[in-house]
Amino acid sequence: MATEDFARWAARTEATLERLLPDPSGEPSRLHAAMRHASLGGGKRMRPLLVYAAGTALGADEALLDAPAAAVELVHAYSLVHDDLPAMDDDDLRRGRPTVHVAFDEATAILTGDALQTLAFSALAAVDAPAQLRIDWVRTLADASGVAGMCGGQALDIDATGGGGRKRGQVHFPLAENEPDPFFSLSRLQRMHALKTGALIRAAVRMGALAGGADAATLAQLDMFAAALGLAFQVRDDLLDIEASSEQLGKTAGKDAAQDKSTYPTLLGMDGARAKLGELAVAMDQALAPLAPRAATLAALGELAVRRSH
Ligand code: IPE
Ligand code: IPE
Ligand code: MG
Ligand code: MG
Ligand code: MG
Repeated sequence: MATEDFARWAARTEATLERLLPDPSGEPSRLHAAMRHASLGGGKRMRPLLVYAAGTALGADEALLDAPAAAVELVHAYSLVHDDLPAMDDDDLRRGRPTVHVAFDEATAILTGDALQTLAFSALAAVDAPAQLRIDWVRTLADASGVAGMCGGQALDIDATGGGGRKRGQVHFPLAENEPDPFFSLSRLQRMHALKTGALIRAAVRMGALAGGADAATLAQLDMFAAALGLAFQVRDDLLDIEASSEQLGKTAGKDAAQDKSTYPTLLGMDGARAKLGELAVAMDQALAPLAPRAATLAALGELAVRRSH
């Protein structure tokens, strides 16, 4: 049963994070406490679940998947802490709690993100697994986190924020009065979403698959699935920002419109964004078809990404 698997995998993730994170009473205790606030006891744990689902589909032991599952969640948690900073999305609510810079302070939030990120790579390097696998995990997660992944996507997001692009006509190139802003083109938006959210989701699936000893063809097939899921996950996030309440989301609803973010609903409308989700669901099914029935839990996670209500 997929739901039982998900509960067990989420509990394993929590336990691994608890083991990796610094002692709350140790010094510097403010940083330790903030790291724990950012990563323990909250979130859907979608990326760890993908690591376990991909890995076990290919026969990996759950114990081998603990480190990559926790590592991708640590990078994700760091990305949220920085995403919420006043210099970025300026949010005060996350996972139903005050954001780190609100509960602590801005300097601590910056350091928390930095420290969570490096902890992720330390965990991968230190685990009892074959050296080549550890190198492949580190490379996969590093590439997905950096300029060609999450950070690059966040930079595109910031560029495309505010009144047709905060930096419309200023930084990248001058735009004439009625010239469409390229940051609002569908291909730009897709690239931004694929990087800021899709890259870590693809890395999660790949790290699990690597642990299961996937061959190149299987890696490619799973990557097609993960790319569709990653995009769908952010399209759904954009829709929920409009449709759901802050209580339901555990983060402030309506922020994208308030900040003039470039999103799927702003470009395609609500129905267009929903239609896009439908297309991505079909793409996920097609990508997993050759791997059925092993891929049942992955398919269930794909459905969750499309249908989730928070
Ligand atoms: C939120 O991610 C930010 C995005 C990349 C859309 P999640 O929706 O996975 O957030 P948590 O981990 O459940 O809090
Ligand atoms: C965040 O996208 C993507 C990250 C890399 C953190 P959003 O800014 O839409 O995420 P939320 O809505 O704040 O969770
Ligand atoms: Mg953001
Ligand atoms: Mg945000
Ligand atoms: Mg959002």
